[in-house]
Amino acid sequence: MNSARFFRSVQDAPWYRQFLAPVLDGVGPLPAQATVLDLGMGPGKLLELGQAQTSLRWAGADTDPAMLAEARQRASLHGVALHQIHPDQPLPFAAATFDAVTCCSVLFLLPEPAALLTEITRILRPSGRLVVLTPSGTARPRSKLIGTIGWDPRNWTFWLWRHMTAERGRAWTRRGLLSDFAAQQRAIYKREGVFHGLATLEVVQFMGP
Ligand SMILES: C[S@@+](CC[C@H](N)C(=O)[O-])C[C@H]1O[C@@H](n2cnc3c(N)ncnc32)[C@H](O)[C@@H]1O
Repeated sequence: MNSARFFRSVQDAPWYRQFLAPVLDGVGPLPAQATVLDLGMGPGKLLELGQAQTSLRWAGADTDPAMLAEARQRASLHGVALHQIHPDQPLPFAAATFDAVTCCSVLFLLPEPAALLTEITRILRPSGRLVVLTPSGTARPRSKLIGTIGWDPRNWTFWLWRHMTAERGRAWTRRGLLSDFAAQQRAIYKREGVFHGLATLEVVQFMGP
């Protein structure tokens, strides 16, 4: 099994739907047919949930062709525009294209995310919104969480995820990069613990011209 296929099985485990759910809340409320880009979508689970649960127009982008190939296999995404992007090049979208950009478990992997943040700012409409989900790496799973995600055998990947993301998640939290970025942009910044404290949802709301 290649890593993209394996990651799709992670995304399709029941716990992952709960991990991603706060992102859909973080995006809204937006008018029906507003446009949202999921940047670094991997095999496309957030797009699938967004398509099913919102009336927004979703698009996806990722640097990894294998991730795109997995996303394209989802029948639910056949009508969704999925873009191959390149890490060292500008994003292939005109300025002010999207009402919101979601970015889940991506920025904390990048040694220097500043250039990507500048590009995200460019492709967002002037009063657009950036929603970032990151593993916190801090909290221990509580019995309440175990009760919520249940004992489905597919949930074994939760423990792997927690182990593999903890250190980078803590480093992301320590850096506070997104709140500094929001202050520079004169944008409103909000941060909250989600998924029983195992993840952080950050929202940067731009204020228009
Ligand atoms: C841990 S996965 C997260 C996938 C998905 N967002 C999710 O939450 O399940 C990180 C994804 O970010 C993508 N990625 C890495 N660098 C990127 C970049 N500079 N721009 C966009 N995507 C990137 C990877 O190819 C991978 O699919």
